Amino acid sequence: MNFRTLPVNKQFMRIPVKPDTWLLNGISLDNAAPHPHVIIGDDYALIMDTTDLDLELRKYVEEYVTDKPLMVASTHSHGDHTKNNYMFEDCPIYMTAASWQEIQENRVKVPERTPGTYTPKIIGDGDIIDLGGRQLECIDFCGCHSPTSIVYLDTKYGCLFTGDEFEGGQVLLLAATSSVELYKENLIALKKRIDGRATCICPPHNGSPIDIALLDYTIENCDRIMSGIEGMEDIRSMTFGLNPHGYDVERWNNGYTRRSEWMGSSLVYDTRQIFKK
Ligand SMILES: [Fe+2]
Repeated sequence: MNFRTLPVNKQFMRIPVKPDTWLLNGISLDNAAPHPHVIIGDDYALIMDTTDLDLELRKYVEEYVTDKPLMVASTHSHGDHTKNNYMFEDCPIYMTAASWQEIQENRVKVPERTPGTYTPKIIGDGDIIDLGGRQLECIDFCGCHSPTSIVYLDTKYGCLFTGDEFEGGQVLLLAATSSVELYKENLIALKKRIDGRATCICPPHNGSPIDIALLDYTIENCDRIMSGIEGMEDIRSMTFGLNPHGYDVERWNNGYTRRSEWMGSSLVYDTRQIFKK
């Protein structure tokens, strides 16, 4: 079914996360699809991860969410998070240099996944995106899902926008250089960096918001894996093998992938990448 033919107010449901902060639940048959957040300041509204939902995102935002001028930010380069950036070519679009590099390469390799001709504004660790009375602080973290990742801390309401590097349903430690040990180190560094300023985590997949306490349970999950408690093999991922999103499906069906669940956290990892090389 082409959901784009539905009335625009039936294509999304807006769900409040915090004041002036919305999760847009877009209709799709594929439960793996990410969902955008809209973060509204006094002067601008920013769409965090435009996603690849084949829906009228911009029209919905402008008619039902905000009349502020729009900005866009991407947490990482993956096409299911960045494809719809083309709808906002006249707006500032923020991403890391690594994301931009990969998108430029993909414009040649998979142009159907990277429509548009925009050139983004490059951000990095410590940069601030000012929405007017509300700021997003850019924080390096952590490259275990994708080396192109960055997270954004809303210093007004304490929301941490983590992309696919941290979520409740399944964190996929996809990057070739990732390991459970490195992921744990990065979680500890993130905790130190946010220093109590975040109260919730807002990922685009599998539920938002999540209580910040899940950071601690995920650190414990890493400790369990490193102590030798092996994750499950038969439910290693809800989406890989069903909807590959262009990733290396072979890798996730090679007998080495496990899912470790602990206190609501869930890590999908490779048994050959538990400790740092
Ligand atoms: Fe991703």
